[in-house]
Amino acid sequence: MAKFLYCTTLFSIINLHAIASYPFKLLPRNYENNSLEPFIDSQTMDIHYNGHHKKYVEELNAALAEHPDLHSYSLMNLICSLQTIPEKIRTRIRHNGGGHENHTFFWNCMSPTKTAPGKELLILFTNHFGSFDGFKQKFNEAAKKVFGSGWVWLCFDPRKEKLIITSTPNQDSPYMYGLIPLLGLDVWEHAYYLKHQNKRASYIEAWWNVVNWSFVEENYQKARSCSGGKKIALKKKKKRD
Ligand SMILES: [Fe+2]
Repeated sequence: MAKFLYCTTLFSIINLHAIASYPFKLLPRNYENNSLEPFIDSQTMDIHYNGHHKKYVEELNAALAEHPDLHSYSLMNLICSLQTIPEKIRTRIRHNGGGHENHTFFWNCMSPTKTAPGKELLILFTNHFGSFDGFKQKFNEAAKKVFGSGWVWLCFDPRKEKLIITSTPNQDSPYMYGLIPLLGLDVWEHAYYLKHQNKRASYIEAWWNVVNWSFVEENYQKARSCSGGKKIALKKKKKRD
């Protein structure tokens, strides 16, 4: 229980969205459906936000409606303590709570304003992945490998104090695995099929043009401050002989 409280408290500090509780709401984005054209098309953004994301929120609230004992739980409490959720609604909370968390995060990962990774992020990418291009290449490979529906992430692993690229199936959140997301890409077909059909690689390439590097930087700084303010991920890897 102590470990659970530590994790949810830490993650709640990092993610202010975690403060919200039942009934959960679809939070506004700070740009319009057509703001990411031509890279992400307006119709996809509309269906993705007002269709898919909204449905996750509705289903999450529906699952919780008859469980008043869970109404004070934040989204972070719910998705980080699935083993304590009644079995009858556990899968619905996992899918729809994760879907709500992931999509809320995803909208912030994109911006109509062109941004670029700052000096500190570039050093991190060099130290962890060889270079910025090396990072993008590894992220792309992970995104292409996701089988079926899921997500690819750049995360901070607080146990190993380093950055990792990983994927999650369905709507699982990195927080469910004790990881802090810095950047996430939705590779469900609903995120790209209208414009790119079966060409996921084409969608991934277009998406890099709208990545909100300021948000990534902000997430890294929060993760860093929650780890005692150390330059946790700036350590150089030791070369192997
Ligand atoms: Fe999605």
